[in-house]
Amino acid sequence: GGIAYPPVPDRLIGHRGAAASAPENTLASFQAAAAAGARWVEFDVKLTAEGVPIVLHDDTLDRTTNGQGPVAALCLADLKDLDAGSWFSADFAGERVPTLAETLDTLAVLGLGANIELKPCPGRTAETARAALAVAQRRWPQAAPPLVISSFDLDALAEAAAIAAQGVMTPWPRALLADAADGWTAALLIERARALGCVGVHLDDALASAETLETLRAAGLRRAVWTVNDRSRALALWEQGADAIITDRPASLLDKGDKKAG
Ligand code: G3P
Ligand code: MG
Repeated sequence: GGIAYPPVPDRLIGHRGAAASAPENTLASFQAAAAAGARWVEFDVKLTAEGVPIVLHDDTLDRTTNGQGPVAALCLADLKDLDAGSWFSADFAGERVPTLAETLDTLAVLGLGANIELKPCPGRTAETARAALAVAQRRWPQAAPPLVISSFDLDALAEAAAIAAQGVMTPWPRALLADAADGWTAALLIERARALGCVGVHLDDALASAETLETLRAAGLRRAVWTVNDRSRALALWEQGADAIITDRPASLLDKGDKKAG
């Protein structure tokens, strides 16, 4: 009896790489996720001043680099002078903010799937979607692991849908990101996901009740849940049919220690 060993690692996505064990959204973090056994990673994409897609969570540089102020004010050359690792640990001194192109090339080598979260800086929504999709088109090999586009930004998802509808670029699957603070209901999520042509919803854990997961499943939508760092919660969500768990701690959630009990 007991809980079946979860169908991992394919149903696990490293959040910002492996954010608990390496500086988030760096190549070192993606390598750490791969070393932990993850098969996918999620990361956040926005633009430099001149419009190059780069991988960084915040609109400002202060928290995750030794720079200051809005990332949108810096050109790529100046961004590349910054240290994106020392804030986390001296072991990661010299890590850089990666471009989306560098990130996709690294993931292809590691064999990792990609969840590109479009996280535009204010006023740059459509431009961010267009630039990120153009890089994905150039840099993601045809036979590489899967790639999913997600965003909280409905206009970014609408732009990605419009680009896909033109029929010139690969129509990457898209997912609607849902924050509990935005007051979503399952019915609203289904309506909006369908309107945007999304294949799935990436739910805040606070929205991921068994009932909501089942309602979304019945509507034909894929379900990922973020950010889940507790293994028992992840096991419960997998049991409830979550397609993927987005976690800062892929090593903990993939803990092989429980296998021996079987
Ligand atoms: O994509 C899931 C999750 O990353 C969304 O929230 O703030 O960590 O980008 P955030
Ligand atoms: Mg994110």
